[in-house]
Amino acid sequence: MIHPSRNPEISILPARRDDLEAIMLLERSGFPAAEQWSERSWRGELLGEGRTILIARAQHPVGVISIKTVAELADLHRLVVESRCRRRGIGTDLVRATLEVVRQLGVREVILDVAYHNEPAIALYQQLGFEQLSARQNYYGPGQHALILKLYELQTWPDRIAITEER
Ligand SMILES: CC(C)(COP(=O)(O)OP(=O)(O)OC[C@H]1O[C@@H](n2cnc3c(N)ncnc32)[C@H](O)[C@@H]1OP(=O)(O)O)[C@@H](O)C(=O)NCCC(=O)NCCS
Repeated sequence: MIHPSRNPEISILPARRDDLEAIMLLERSGFPAAEQWSERSWRGELLGEGRTILIARAQHPVGVISIKTVAELADLHRLVVESRCRRRGIGTDLVRATLEVVRQLGVREVILDVAYHNEPAIALYQQLGFEQLSARQNYYGPGQHALILKLYELQTWPDRIAITEER
């Protein structure tokens, strides 16, 4: 299934197992070495139960997102957009497409953690309706604090986000 993107040259599609190499390139371009997921972690993600993994592709993959669904709760695990392609709405399109998939699976709430200094990601999530639930000290290691964000009432989310955008 292809999900809509506001970038006409970008397709958003489910990831395949043979996308691992491309995903690792995105991972390495997106995060400092100490924060990168290993190939093993991403392989586990691609094979894991309840995962929705979507890739944004132009000529090559330019972004990836992974979310895990357990009953009515989804946990957004990873989001990265290639550095040259940022600020064009691709990250937003990936999150929107993923939320729509899990909404249709019956998910009601979505949770995620994000480094407290990651302003681009926090701004993106807040624009889409995520709210701060809590903060966790040293969550990623000494001095590396996290914010826990939550999106409530996903089932009515498309109506609410449409109203917000009209304002
Ligand atoms: C966070 C990330 C995925 C955003 O991807 P993107 O495709 O650039 O995001 P979008 O273009 O959809 O931006 C949506 C909004 O997020 C905010 N935003 C994005 N980049 C920003 C930046 N550098 N500074 C401030 N706000 C930013 C803006 O509010 C933006 O809306 P606007 O362009 O209308 O002002 C990307 O920066 C990235 O891959 N970062 C490295 C990996 C990472 O931190 N992942 C998140 C871990 S939880």
